[in-house]
Amino acid sequence: MADDVAQTTRKHGLRTTLSHVGRTTKREHGFVNPPLLRGSTVLVPTVAERQALQAKRGERVLTYGTGGSATHWALEDAIAAVEGGSRCYIVSTGLSAVTTPLLAWLKAGDHMLMPDHVYGPARNFATTMLRDFGVDTTFYLPEIDETGLSALMRPNTKVVYTESPGSHTFEVQDVPAIARAAHAGGAKVFMDNTWGIHHFQPFAHGVDVSIQAATKYPAGHSDVLIGAITVNTDTDWQILHAAARTLGQYASPDDCWLTLRGMRTMAVRLQAQMESALLIAHWLRQQPEVAQVLHPGLPGAPGHELWRRDFTGACSLFGVEFKSSFTTKATHRFVEALDLFGIGASWGGYESLAVPTTGFVTRSAGGKPFAGPMVRIHIGLEDPDDLIADLTHGLGALRQEN
Ligand SMILES: Cc1ncc(COP(=O)(O)O)c(C=O)c1O
Repeated sequence: MADDVAQTTRKHGLRTTLSHVGRTTKREHGFVNPPLLRGSTVLVPTVAERQALQAKRGERVLTYGTGGSATHWALEDAIAAVEGGSRCYIVSTGLSAVTTPLLAWLKAGDHMLMPDHVYGPARNFATTMLRDFGVDTTFYLPEIDETGLSALMRPNTKVVYTESPGSHTFEVQDVPAIARAAHAGGAKVFMDNTWGIHHFQPFAHGVDVSIQAATKYPAGHSDVLIGAITVNTDTDWQILHAAARTLGQYASPDDCWLTLRGMRTMAVRLQAQMESALLIAHWLRQQPEVAQVLHPGLPGAPGHELWRRDFTGACSLFGVEFKSSFTTKATHRFVEALDLFGIGASWGGYESLAVPTTGFVTRSAGGKPFAGPMVRIHIGLEDPDDLIADLTHGLGALRQEN
């Protein structure tokens, strides 16, 4: 660890941590924020110094751009502190944060377990490239318990993947139970913790490798794509680091700098967005057109008890299932009638979004399909009263003749 980069810390509260983590402890530049360092070539005065630096490859020394710089290391420390892990590696997208550790821990002949509600491109990676590389994947029902998971373990199961809740259908997983079964069979537990962000501490719940699409709440302003992979042991760090460097994984320093800037306000943004989302989810639940609201923070909603047990809060992404008397086309009218909600992929920015998701999710593990058409809602930082007025207008469009 370079002496000019603050240590990962969660000894303080989250807001204190986010205000201080990753800031330089030396004061030679004087500015509050870590510098934005761009570069590929690193010049050294002598060959001997170059050799000395190369011998330290893997440590936080400047040797070549792909090894990162203080700009990357500051963000790595911030994410590791939020996740409660020891080290983090920053990559160019959330999807790279999914694929890089899978390539690090799996090889031909291995088997992986993945939840059926997994983020679509992660499923796609498993069923295309990983399959072609000789890795077999079994998709399991997300609500599986310890016994069920144990029954699916094979001698060659090396990774048990989790995503909780699923980012389209919002089933909450019993991660500690899954981790017990996975570890008993000698597998590593991966988790896409993008929804939980600082409200779920992965390593305290048995996870070995935590994945963040930092594109969402850490960056927070819908202008950056970035991913983070966090581990909690030195051995896991060596495996991750070696694979990421072998693959040439890297993120632009500009994007790291913007993401760390976003993280300074993440806790307050997320608090406001969580409160608005819960308010609006409660309101939507009372509307006659709605069959159910898939928000684990709502009492009585699917996964609520597990969410209460394992999470300290919620983000602002949830699903709505409309009554089966409405068509998918009616949900298209609904989202198109909204003025303050954009129709678009991703989430975690400051602005609200609404996207129809019927038919969007591939399922192969045999779960019960939803009867009505679905819409996924992301609540931004707008005034919740304005959003409710907009949604009321949208429901009018939904009710028009099919
Ligand atoms: C749950 C989840 N994981 C990973 C990703 C991938 O993130 P990115 O868009 O930065 O590649 C997304 C993106 O929507 C996501 O929703």
